[in-house]
Amino acid sequence: MSQQPSRRPDALRRRIPKIADLTPLLKFKAPTLPSAHNRLQSANTIADLRAIAKRRTPKAPFDYTDGAAEEEITLNRARASFRDLEFRPGVLRDVSTVDLTTPILGATSALPFGIAPTGFTRMMQSEGEYAGSQAAERAGIPYTLSTMGTASIEDVAKAAPNGRNWFQLYLWTDRDRSLDLIERAARAGYDTLMVTVDTAVAGARLRDVRNGMTIPPALTAKTVLDASYRPAWWFNFLTHEPLNFASLSNFAGTPSELINSMFDPTLTYDDLDWLRKVWKGKLVVKGIQTVDDAKKAVDHGADGIVISNHGGRQLDRAPIPLHLLPDVAAQLKGRAAIIFDTGIMSGGDVIAAMALGADFTLIGRAYLYGLMAGGRAGVDRTIEILSTQASRTMQLLGVSRITDLGPEHVRLL
Ligand code: GLV
Repeated sequence: MSQQPSRRPDALRRRIPKIADLTPLLKFKAPTLPSAHNRLQSANTIADLRAIAKRRTPKAPFDYTDGAAEEEITLNRARASFRDLEFRPGVLRDVSTVDLTTPILGATSALPFGIAPTGFTRMMQSEGEYAGSQAAERAGIPYTLSTMGTASIEDVAKAAPNGRNWFQLYLWTDRDRSLDLIERAARAGYDTLMVTVDTAVAGARLRDVRNGMTIPPALTAKTVLDASYRPAWWFNFLTHEPLNFASLSNFAGTPSELINSMFDPTLTYDDLDWLRKVWKGKLVVKGIQTVDDAKKAVDHGADGIVISNHGGRQLDRAPIPLHLLPDVAAQLKGRAAIIFDTGIMSGGDVIAAMALGADFTLIGRAYLYGLMAGGRAGVDRTIEILSTQASRTMQLLGVSRITDLGPEHVRLL
């Protein structure tokens, strides 16, 4: 057999590596000390922030935030509903610039999401409501203070004087008690009142029961042991002002005792009519879970509704907000602000909800994971991650303005 000439291309012949070829590949970086900044920058998703939060926060407050009611079926389904959808991108659109600004309730938000009301926020990390409201102020998005917040109406207004602050109310049939809070919120410049109506009684948050969770956290052998490997949380907690509530002057007990003392099972639509009379600003009803109630709330004078099952923290096996959204939008789009809450863990989730008919969205746990991961800087990082993801999703969908999103961009599977 005659020898074939070698057909190996020159580029594939072995050779001794030359230093000049290697230098462009060398990317060793000087080692950096672990710092709060680097820790937060290493998080690229809300799930990454959650992992950091879990390491740094005692189990009881972490679980209070992370957990939901009963078997947590509602929360898991709400999250799954975002995974079980398909985006429908348009191509060959000029998406060199993306405008995320979103009109909501008579003003403009820089982003299509704002911060949802959350209770006991300074227990999760001692900067709590101050971190949330100041990060929202900086980002140009609304911040909602909860009746169960651990900073007062006035202190939050003072901390974020240029922010757009909303106040969440648990309405009581004792009208003087409600009126006092409403008047304080109006005086402090809050422009929107968000009344939560999905809380006739407290949901069964079983993780709290199992953890023996109390507010404020009690110093037991278990919590002292926990402190030994979460020293930063305990140091912050013990060296900052004790928790004050937005509305209650003093309380000690389990979350469900406190929540039950706040919730009023006697409420009806008549109470909403009364609220509409006494509150002059924008009125939003949070915790709407059927099309019928959405229409009714608007008929009773609400400027907006929040489709929400309270982050799965109340009724287990409740309707999934993403599935309810198109039907509510079909009835109310243009007549009232449709705000979406529950289960948002990425900017893509925000864009999906906006495409399916939401006028605005709220983030609860997503910002609390950032808060627990790194205080104010962690909330900034949450907002940065969500807005980067939202912007990229829009570009890949071929859409450059929020108002151009529509149901044609999403298919629920
Ligand atoms: C309070 O509203 C809570 O869900 O814990």
